[in-house]
Amino acid sequence: MACDHAVGANRRHITRRRFLGRAGMAIVAGSLGPAWAGNTPPGQVKKRRLGKTNLMVSEIGFGGHSWEYPRVPDPAGPRKVSEDEAVEIISAALDMGVNFFDADTAISEHELPGKVLKRLDRADDVIVCVRLCHKSHGVPEDKQEIYKFIDERLKLWPMDSVDIMMVSMTTEEYWDMSYCIEALEKVKQQGKIRFTGFGSHFTPENYLEAIAKYGDAFDICSAPYNVRHRAAEEVFPVAEKHDLGIVTIKPFARGSLLKGLDLADDDKGTPRRMVAFVLRNKYVDCCLTGLHTFDQMLENFSASWTGLSPADGEALERLASAKPPGDADWLERSWVLA
Ligand SMILES: NC(=O)c1ccc[n+]([C@@H]2O[C@H](COP(=O)([O-])OP(=O)(O)OC[C@H]3O[C@@H](n4cnc5c(N)ncnc54)[C@H](OP(=O)(O)O)[C@@H]3O)[C@@H](O)[C@H]2O)c1
Repeated sequence: MACDHAVGANRRHITRRRFLGRAGMAIVAGSLGPAWAGNTPPGQVKKRRLGKTNLMVSEIGFGGHSWEYPRVPDPAGPRKVSEDEAVEIISAALDMGVNFFDADTAISEHELPGKVLKRLDRADDVIVCVRLCHKSHGVPEDKQEIYKFIDERLKLWPMDSVDIMMVSMTTEEYWDMSYCIEALEKVKQQGKIRFTGFGSHFTPENYLEAIAKYGDAFDICSAPYNVRHRAAEEVFPVAEKHDLGIVTIKPFARGSLLKGLDLADDDKGTPRRMVAFVLRNKYVDCCLTGLHTFDQMLENFSASWTGLSPADGEALERLASAKPPGDADWLERSWVLA
């Protein structure tokens, strides 16, 4: 199918900001580098069609938790990614063809990439997906939460509309998406978003129910998927029948699949292979990865051009099946393939 939605198409930018951004660009590019210090990036991240949105998205994208959690190694203890570090990480990734930015509910997941894209004057080159952690009580007040969220978060991005808004639900809560669908339609008509999605910590059974009831009302869905937690393999084909774009989360089970590994030596390359494992699934359109350093970014995104050999894939599956559950309780409970 023709891919008729270009990145940034229909998006209205804040003219004055853009003008100032362009005026400062030479300085920005000179002082903030690297990205590759005049050389070409080591490879290019491939694009996939994001279901019925027809957006062409990089098959690996930035998870918003990258900016929210204090996990950059530092002598004084773990800390959050600084703005200058984020400029370095994001500008290099953009050079590698990465264009998908996910941002969960926390303000910093919007604020930091928003500032960086403004500094780099690259708002035109990205697809932004914002997520509201939303209880979906099935009451009219559901709508107010959505209106408030999108208005507040839009102020943090250097554009006045975003591409996708997702609603995320938890398994423990009652959920009924009918009111949030109405609210999302309204913000779409207001030009604040272009497409909608749902996902999060559902069980596979929740997903199948949600897709059956609401699959035609949404454009994308998002589910956990990694070499150990593979139950989404039963959900993806059903989602595809509704032409839902598929965005995966937790390629490392929030890092717990990597715990205890010797990533500098014996287990070197394991994170890259874990991302490549996710990409090997033909239903996946974009694998989101949380990361906290330039080196993690480079390793994770390089999965797009290095791929996964059959032998490496088998070794990875053996490694993952022997892993203790770690701190990924909800994944262990519901997402290990029976
Ligand atoms: N409610 C929702 O809808 C929802 C829920 C969960 C996630 N998400 C989205 O999905 C994204 C991905 O999930 P996630 O960030 O929770 O989990 P993840 O991507 O499975 O794991 C991220 C963690 O893995 C470690 N890591 C990443 N690359 C590494 C590398 N090359 N080498 C060593 N360690 C590496 C980092 O830990 P260290 O910092 O300790 O090194 C990082 O914090 C999120 O960022 C978010 O955008 C959405």
